[in-house]
Amino acid sequence: MSPLEGDVTLSRLHRTALPALSVLILALSSLANATRTADEQNIPTQIPGHNAILMGTDWYPEQWPESRWETEVRMMEDAHLNVVRLAEFAWSAMEPSDGRFEFAWLDRAIRLLEKHHIAVVLGTPTAGPPAWLTHKYPETLRVEPDGQRVAPGNRAHGSPTSVKYREFCRGIAEEMAKRYGSDQNVVGWQIDNEYGYALMSYDDDTKKQFQDWLHDKYKNLDSLNRHWATAYWSQTYDDWSEIPIPTVPHNPALMLEWKRFVTQAWNSYQQNQLDVIRRYANPRQFITGNFMGLGWDGLDQYTITNPLTFASWDDYVGTGHLDPDKNGMSHDGMRGLKRENFWVIETQPGAVNWSDLNNYLNKGETRAMAWHAVAHGADDVSYWQWRSAPNGQEEMHGTLVGADGTPVPLLEEVTQTAKEFDRTQSAFRGTRVVSEVALLNDYESRWAIDLQKHTRQYNTYAVSQTYYKALRTIAQSMDVVSPYAPLDEYKLVVAPNLNLIPESLAKHLLDYVKNGGHLVLGPRAGLKDEYDALLPQRQPGFLADALGARVEQFYALDRNVPLYGTLGSGAGSLWAEQLKTTDANTQVLLRYGTSNGWLDGQPAVVTHAVEKGTITYVGAVLDDTLVTNLAELTARQSGVKPVFGAVPEGVEVSRRVGANKRVFVFINFSQQPKTIVLPHTMRSLLEDKPADTFELAPYGVGLALDQK
Ligand code: GAL
Repeated sequence: MSPLEGDVTLSRLHRTALPALSVLILALSSLANATRTADEQNIPTQIPGHNAILMGTDWYPEQWPESRWETEVRMMEDAHLNVVRLAEFAWSAMEPSDGRFEFAWLDRAIRLLEKHHIAVVLGTPTAGPPAWLTHKYPETLRVEPDGQRVAPGNRAHGSPTSVKYREFCRGIAEEMAKRYGSDQNVVGWQIDNEYGYALMSYDDDTKKQFQDWLHDKYKNLDSLNRHWATAYWSQTYDDWSEIPIPTVPHNPALMLEWKRFVTQAWNSYQQNQLDVIRRYANPRQFITGNFMGLGWDGLDQYTITNPLTFASWDDYVGTGHLDPDKNGMSHDGMRGLKRENFWVIETQPGAVNWSDLNNYLNKGETRAMAWHAVAHGADDVSYWQWRSAPNGQEEMHGTLVGADGTPVPLLEEVTQTAKEFDRTQSAFRGTRVVSEVALLNDYESRWAIDLQKHTRQYNTYAVSQTYYKALRTIAQSMDVVSPYAPLDEYKLVVAPNLNLIPESLAKHLLDYVKNGGHLVLGPRAGLKDEYDALLPQRQPGFLADALGARVEQFYALDRNVPLYGTLGSGAGSLWAEQLKTTDANTQVLLRYGTSNGWLDGQPAVVTHAVEKGTITYVGAVLDDTLVTNLAELTARQSGVKPVFGAVPEGVEVSRRVGANKRVFVFINFSQQPKTIVLPHTMRSLLEDKPADTFELAPYGVGLALDQK
């Protein structure tokens, strides 16, 4: 059997195409290069787990009598689900007491799923250590900032930095990997669960690890003292052991390093399991982790997903309804983590149980949400969870099957969608999202601004959202990537919150611009270096010369400030920077109207040509109209084209591109019927016939295959 066959023998979807090993290797190496060519013919094709659009669910057989299992699994098969995640909270069932492992039940569950053509993803259960473990080894429990150990019984209570806890995590992961690393029905692994929401332990051992990590990074205390300016308030450190863990507001340089350490700690916590899984797992098995979207910044998700095969995330609406821009930006951000397709490894079946108001999604909305994920590059959509546990913290959460074992009404909609995934998956095979516009997301800059907001309402995510929305509407496709990603493929790059621009990053950005790129920097850009220290030159720091302008002074606003100029007129809120041009060729696009006196008549938005490209600097938080005007101007200037063309308001169009094909996904998020007119005849994938138009009811979905 080829090493890939396990991937394809087990489910309906897997059966149809068996990519050759050489294709796989090619795809992996192009992944590693992470340089995407705009040449649509050269789109990498398959990697394990990316070879189809899948639909799945989370199932916890350990919570149910085994006599019931086959009925459940048959219902899953009837619902056309083809992947199930197992075991990520089953530690006490797999290791009921210290060193005694029981996997026979899991073997039987995996075989049963295989019999019903459902592939398995195994989760390591380390987000929920069993009671015997934390009772016997209390040092494995996290210590809260107030010095109290966390009580067991919830989850995420294991300490990511505890040597003992890591031993146990490695132990259970190793036993699982030995047993299932070559299981033909196990297609991949998920490590832990949401990485304990990045919660840390504030014990002495963790403090020592933090100090050692700082030592390793700075090498000597003089360097640390200088970068942190510790002479201020007499903080100078003479010994590494004097450096505290910040539990209350502290020196922002220390706090920023703590944030980095948190990522590092969880990263090595992850690596501890990755190493043993990789040792035993067949290379065709992927290894992923479930993250929490772009809005969540507990960890630097670029760092943490780096060693994984691909990124996955848990997509929940919570209160309210699907906002395509908000959710779309998160999808694009998760796709941008590895600049590859991703999985929605958990999503909301109707309603959650943890939000302020756990309203149910409307009829049709769940299907629209699944297609929205695929449209933005998801290769799997899995519902959390199949059937509610009979009791416990989440018994009120939405499911596909009720506690009584019969389907809830939503299962019909999910089944319809799963059938559609099945029918259309060959068209999506080997496709990915290709964009001309990128929005830069930098966790360190987000942390730096949040550590010193200067005005409490400042919300870096909301600022990014306005740019995303305006540009997504124009380009109909957006990437959200790290500022350190290769940028040359983009015509336009916007960085709404790039507070930290060390010299190396400034050079990377400038190279992009000089080569013909168009860069838009938002407010607060280039204020500091990577140590959170103010740069010795005014904003945007190392880019000020190229911009031909600088920030004279920033102001937190107690009221909106009027703006006027070639971009139109409107208002700025929360934050305003008084700019000054330093080059005769710098063009002023907006000025401030009368406000605090300092700003009156001063430049607010400027732009400057640099070799083949331009840098634009926006010193204010612009209102939506002005952001739209700026987006239109910069898109025009950089030659950005919509991936499809005009669509009616309320309809989102997206495009996935493969060799000799493009798949357009249209979703009607409005409450009225809408008509989409195609520029030429394409194939309607859902109706399996040629189409020139789509008539979409509210939440309606149209899929058009355009083959060259
Ligand atoms: C996720 C978590 C799942 C489940 C779900 C409920 O964050 O990973 O285990 O708790 O939320 O919405």
